[in-house]
Amino acid sequence: MDNYDPHIYELSAPGKHGTNLPRLDVPETELPANLLRQDGMNDFPELTEPEVIRHYTRISRNNVGIDTGMISLGSCTMKFNPKLHEEAARYAGFAAAHPLQGDELSQGALQLMYELQDYLGEISGFDAVSLQPAAGAQGEFTGILVFRAYHLSRGDEDRTEVLVPDAAHGTNPATAAMVGLKVVEVKSDARGNVDMDDLRAKVSSRTAGMMLTNPNTLGLFEEQIVEISQIVHSVGGLMYGDGANFNAILGIAKPGKLGFDFMHYNLHKTFTTPHGGGGPGSGAVGCTAALAPFLPGPRVRQNGAGTYELFTPEQSIGRMKAFHGNFGMLVRAWTYIRTLGEEGLREVSEVAVLNANYVRSHLKDIYPQAIDRICMHETVLRGQIPGAQGIRTLDIAKRLIDYGFHPPTVYFPLIVPEALMIEPTETESKRTLDIFIQAMRAIAHEAVETPDLLHEAPTKAPVRRLDEVRAARQPILRYDAAAFAKLRAEAEGR
Ligand SMILES: Cc1ncc(COP(=O)(O)O)c(C=O)c1O
Repeated sequence: MDNYDPHIYELSAPGKHGTNLPRLDVPETELPANLLRQDGMNDFPELTEPEVIRHYTRISRNNVGIDTGMISLGSCTMKFNPKLHEEAARYAGFAAAHPLQGDELSQGALQLMYELQDYLGEISGFDAVSLQPAAGAQGEFTGILVFRAYHLSRGDEDRTEVLVPDAAHGTNPATAAMVGLKVVEVKSDARGNVDMDDLRAKVSSRTAGMMLTNPNTLGLFEEQIVEISQIVHSVGGLMYGDGANFNAILGIAKPGKLGFDFMHYNLHKTFTTPHGGGGPGSGAVGCTAALAPFLPGPRVRQNGAGTYELFTPEQSIGRMKAFHGNFGMLVRAWTYIRTLGEEGLREVSEVAVLNANYVRSHLKDIYPQAIDRICMHETVLRGQIPGAQGIRTLDIAKRLIDYGFHPPTVYFPLIVPEALMIEPTETESKRTLDIFIQAMRAIAHEAVETPDLLHEAPTKAPVRRLDEVRAARQPILRYDAAAFAKLRAEAEGR
C-alpha cells in the first residue's frame, strides 16, 4: 500500500476497450437465449490494451524470483532452474499428452517416467520409486501411510508412535499426526546430532518409525546415522528419510545404504523443477523392496515385449494424486539428471557444500554459528550481532531486501534462537556470494551504528513491513473495492 498504484478496476471506465475481434468468417446467427450469460458481465473492468499490459507488467516487476536474484532460503534449495528444462517440458508430445490417451499412445511419456524412477532409485540406493506425490510434505504423508500399512500387514497393530527430532521441519510431526500416530520428540545433542541416549530411551515396541532429515535441518551430517538406523530397526521400527536436504549428498552418499527404508525427494529442490508459488511440485518417493508393494500407484514398468505400462502395486495404499503426478515436473527432473550425469550430480553437491562453507566462514565472526562445525549445503547462523542492541533476526532479514537480496530462512530450526539459515546452492557464482557477504557484513555494522535503518527496513521494496499474521489469516485474494479503500486509508493514516 505504500507505493499505491491504482488497481485495474479503478482504471476502468465505461466504453474503453482493448480488443479487436477478428472479422466474422461464419454466417452471423442469433445465439440461443439459454446460452447467453445472464449475469456477471457488469463486473468486468473496461480498459485499453496498453493499460492492461502496463498493469500486469508492472505487477510482474514487483515479483522476486530466482531469475532476478539469489534466494538463499535455507532448507528450500532455491537453485536456478535451467531454461532447457522448460523447453523439454513444452515439447508438444509431453505438454499436449492427455492422461487418458492410454499406455499404447503414451510410450514416450511412460518411458520417461520409468527412467526417472530408475535414476532416482539409483541415486538414492532404493529399490522402488513412485512419482505420485505432489510435494515433499505429501511424500512424507505417503511414507508414514506406507509404514502403517506395512506394520498392519504383519499383524503388528500396536505401533502407534513416530520419533521426530526436535530440529525437524514442521511437516514431519504434522504428517505423523495426520496419519493418527503419536509424535515422540527426540532431543538434539550439543554437536547438533540426534541425542543417542534420548533416542535409546524413546524407542520401544510401539515405535512405527523415525522421521529423520540427513543432512539435518542444522545443515549438519548426522554422524551416527548408521547407529540410529540400527537402534530403530532393532525394535522393529522403520526409518523415514526426509530428503529435503538431498542436494548436499548427491553421488556421495546413498540414503538407502545408510539405513533408511523410505525417502521423499523434493524434485522442486534437488532436481531443479521450479517451486512455483505453492505448486505444482513433486515429492517422488523411494523405498526398499520390502515396502515396495505398498507404494502408491500407478507406477511404470516394462513388460516382456519391451513396452511400458502403468501398474498399481498389490498392496498399494492407493493414489496420492490424480493421473500420473505432476508430469511436467518429471520431464524437468529427467532432463536435469540426463544433462548432468553421474559426475555432474556429484559436482552439484560438492559445490553446494563449498558455497555454504564459504559463506559460513566469511560471516561467523559477526553472526554466531548455531553449532561450531563445518556445514553441509546450508549454514545456520544466529542474528545476534555482538554490540547490537534491540536487533532481531527479522530486522536483518528485512534490511537485506534493501540490499537487493531475498532474505534467508529465519527462525527455523526452532531450537536455534534467532536462527538465520542460509543455503546459497551451487548455482550462485563466487561474485554473487561475495556481494551477499558484503551486504550481510554491512548490515551487521549498521545494526551497531544506525539500528533504525534495520528497524525501518525494507524501504526500497514495493511494500514495507507487512502484518504477516493478518495477511495469512485474512487474505484478500480478489479485488474488493471496500477492502481496498479501507487498507489504503489505513496506510495513509486516515
Ligand atoms: C526439511 C524439510 N522437510 C520437508 C519439507 C516439505 O517439503 P515441501 O515444501 O515440498 O512440501 C521442507 C520444505 O521446505 C523441508 O525444508
